Amino acid sequence: MLRVRITLLLLPLLVAPALAQNTLYIPETFEGPVYTLNAAPSSHEFFPGVQTDTYGFNGGYLGPTLILQRGAEVQMHVSNQIGESTTVHWHGMHVAAEDDGGPHSVISPGTVWSPDFTVLDRATTFWYHPHLHEHTGEHVYRGLAGMIIVRDGEEALLDLPRTYGVDDIPVVIQDRQFDAQRQLVFNPGGAGQQGNTMVVNGTVDPVLTLGAGVNRLRLLNGSNARVYQLGLSDDSPFFMVGSDGGLLEAPVELQRLRLAPGERAEVLIDLGGRSGESFTLMSYSSELTRGEPGGVALPNQPPPPAGSIDGTDFTIMQIAVVQAQGSPVQTIPQQLSTLVNLPESSADRVRPMRLDTAGPGPAAPLAINGVVFNMAVINEVVNLGDTEIWEIDNVRGGPHPFHIHDVQFRILDRGGVPPPPQEAGWKDVVLVYPGERVRFITQFLDFADPDTPYMYHCHLLGHEDGGMMGQFLVIDPLATAIERPGNGASLQLSAYPDPAVDWSTIAYEVDQRSPVRIEVFDLLGRSVAVLFDGVRDPGPQTSIWKTGQVPPGTYLVRVQAGNRLMTRTLRVRR
Ligand code: C2O
Ligand code: CU
Ligand code: CU
Repeated sequence: MLRVRITLLLLPLLVAPALAQNTLYIPETFEGPVYTLNAAPSSHEFFPGVQTDTYGFNGGYLGPTLILQRGAEVQMHVSNQIGESTTVHWHGMHVAAEDDGGPHSVISPGTVWSPDFTVLDRATTFWYHPHLHEHTGEHVYRGLAGMIIVRDGEEALLDLPRTYGVDDIPVVIQDRQFDAQRQLVFNPGGAGQQGNTMVVNGTVDPVLTLGAGVNRLRLLNGSNARVYQLGLSDDSPFFMVGSDGGLLEAPVELQRLRLAPGERAEVLIDLGGRSGESFTLMSYSSELTRGEPGGVALPNQPPPPAGSIDGTDFTIMQIAVVQAQGSPVQTIPQQLSTLVNLPESSADRVRPMRLDTAGPGPAAPLAINGVVFNMAVINEVVNLGDTEIWEIDNVRGGPHPFHIHDVQFRILDRGGVPPPPQEAGWKDVVLVYPGERVRFITQFLDFADPDTPYMYHCHLLGHEDGGMMGQFLVIDPLATAIERPGNGASLQLSAYPDPAVDWSTIAYEVDQRSPVRIEVFDLLGRSVAVLFDGVRDPGPQTSIWKTGQVPPGTYLVRVQAGNRLMTRTLRVRR
């Protein structure tokens, strides 16, 4: 009798050692086409019986998972009730700059921001989070983030698990620091706030129950400043099927997956025949030895404080396997997608990005190309339609996860070597190590806007908020009055009349003595007239273009002053 009792008591302990476990919370889904998000202060029970102050979208912590269909027109309504300004950015999505939710799209307290756009992206996992300059880290840390799942016809044809919350699981991985009262500790600065308590979808000590078949985990590193080295405790392999920008060409079998802040990965785990087993999703952070935040401290770094999980191997989530319901997916597919390659030779230009400080000395702030982020400065201008290679050189500090808005890119090489297969698909974040050069190629095919820039930045949120960020405009050189910023004179340009019949006056103004060249091109790029080529003093200037000789149509008037360039269209009619 006694022996039986002991056995019964021991069994659950053997299956689930040490941890008090909580069922992994699965965020509700929101299927559009109208999506309403309400950012507000709230509270959340991370620990039984204790309310922790948080921010949340439509609830206590984090927000609903938005399900988007490729090709659909969606209408967002983001209401800001947090009592201070914020923004909401659709991380990874290819949307117009004014709909992107970057730091210029401020949602004042008490107001609603309502962008609408068409979902152009491939099926994948994105996320949404605030992006207010200098406050992104805090707003995300307090709970403002959520997952986006894009579905499309290509993905739908594959035999992949896609029953949300059953065999297709959102896994938002975050670390949080709690004080003695179990309130969130947040300090700005450095790479960003780290914590020693792992939280998945807002659940501490989570256990996820999966059926004994093939399951899909949508992994998102939603931490402010911690890199994970993911693996399963029984060292069984898993299969990565998607990166930031969607399906890979074929599953990649892995035992470890490094995931930097902002990055996502979709992985399949085959639990066929494993009903009754239990294991854990781990971060083997003792294997992070190259200065990654959350990894092993380098010899020149201070050792982690007592109780820190940095550089240790720790549990992210328990996984318990039960009999599968219905008919689970049984096999890992062989093929997934065909990716369009952008050959290096197709690039219109190479754009250097130096991850560095803004000056010499240890106190200099981190910067990109020597410039700390300034809302009023446009750092780069990209021509609509161009293919570009971005060359990211990390010359200062630890590894930086570089992220670009608007586009997905393909990594050409990392330190001169082609990327490993898990990084060979479409991506929007890439971790760049010190001393390393990463080159990626991308295309800027849509969304010219001379007024609203897109961002690129380090996705360690402390670095981003500290100014390791820049902004770029995508401009259409064929549109009216586009200015390429430069160090030369500032420039104003107008033309009257437009359309012209026999003549038009090109009026412009430079603010310093500079060489000026005014040239007119047709839409095929052929020069049709040079109106002025010389030096101008500051002040208003004019040149007359006699249009009687040219065929009617649209022309481009280009004024170059110093290294500034301004182009506008001018029509000629008879
Ligand atoms: Cu995840 Cu600029 O953002
Ligand atoms: Cu983004
Ligand atoms: Cu950084």
